[in-house]
Amino acid sequence: MNNRQLFLQHVAQTTDAPLALEIVKAAGMYMWDADGKQYLDLIAGISVCNVGHCHPAVVTAIQEQAQQYMHLLVYGEFVQSPQVSYAKLLTDHLPDHLNCVYFTNSGAEAVEGAMKLAKRYTGRPEIAAFNRSYHGSTQGALSILGDEYFRNAYRPLLPGIQHLEYNNFESLELITVNTAAVIAESVQAEGGVIVPQREWIHALRNKCTATGTLLILDEVQCGLGRNGTLWAFQQHGIEPDILILGKALGGGMPLGAFISSKEIMWSLTHAPILGHITTFGGHPVNCAAGKAAFQALLNENLVKDVNAKGALFLQHLKHPRIKAVRSLGLMMAVQLESFEVNKKTIDYCIAHGVLTDWFLFASDCMRIAPPLLITEEQIIEACKVICEALDQI
Ligand SMILES: Cc1ncc(COP(=O)(O)O)c(C=O)c1O
Repeated sequence: MNNRQLFLQHVAQTTDAPLALEIVKAAGMYMWDADGKQYLDLIAGISVCNVGHCHPAVVTAIQEQAQQYMHLLVYGEFVQSPQVSYAKLLTDHLPDHLNCVYFTNSGAEAVEGAMKLAKRYTGRPEIAAFNRSYHGSTQGALSILGDEYFRNAYRPLLPGIQHLEYNNFESLELITVNTAAVIAESVQAEGGVIVPQREWIHALRNKCTATGTLLILDEVQCGLGRNGTLWAFQQHGIEPDILILGKALGGGMPLGAFISSKEIMWSLTHAPILGHITTFGGHPVNCAAGKAAFQALLNENLVKDVNAKGALFLQHLKHPRIKAVRSLGLMMAVQLESFEVNKKTIDYCIAHGVLTDWFLFASDCMRIAPPLLITEEQIIEACKVICEALDQI
């Protein structure tokens, strides 16, 4: 059997039609398959490779750290310099009160930790989340996921979960003194790039403050520059009580984090002791990689041009079959007539060397979320292929 057949036979599948490309190398904006075919990456491993594939500084950091030490002991016991220096660097670029980082292995685990932290700190039983939100696939994250179709087969899920409508003022009335936390994506990603209205997200922040509810913002997909500023909440002009990061945080290695104040985070240390623990969370190699990626993001000034690059996409994504494009920075949902048209367009793009896909809750929308280092020429080339696809199919 060849690798593709072995993949289908022995690697657990999550759909009946995986892309099943066999990529043998990736660098910067490109991937190459086993036949040497080149693909321009328009989705960055779903918003992971913000600084591109195999950034040389990230590769060096991984190699150097792997030679020093890898796993030493479970999270939180030893002083591990890659964790310490990355936590310091991140908090130096966050508001003063977001000064304490809990590193996890993934975005979903950061969500789980943040939900537990909010319950423990407030002593309250309920969590509110939003329809069309995606926060991960573990049971707590699935309980708050905003789509009944995906939740239903896995009941019973967590009790005490309220689902609210994003960008809806009336929904905010459901937040009460029993609500430990409201968790919201700063930009709804899998919903098809839904940007919050400024007045609404301010009203959400105010309602949380008035009821003593913690506001958790999930920036797993939109954070770390993709939205046009380092953090999307900066654009909205509000600050969360807990921030959740993942995906690009590890520079291509698995790493997530929930970040809050020292005071709130302290509640995980007692009654009970070891309130949240993990063996591999904050793995030193992954923290070294993440820190190198974050530094590259800053040193190469990659965030500065994100909005201009987004605007260039919008300028070139003009076609009568494109119904709308929703976007913030380099997060875009290109809305087409239907899933069928979207699927055919995506297949055409992939066949012509441009890698893209769709969204979990917006299957008629094509995803554009490339590494932030995409050039003007690459943007124009990608849009040409997409428009050509819409002419042909
Ligand atoms: C907004 C958001 N939050 C959380 C997650 C979960 O992250 P992970 O897949 O690393 O568990 C995702 C994953 O796509 C996400 O998009």
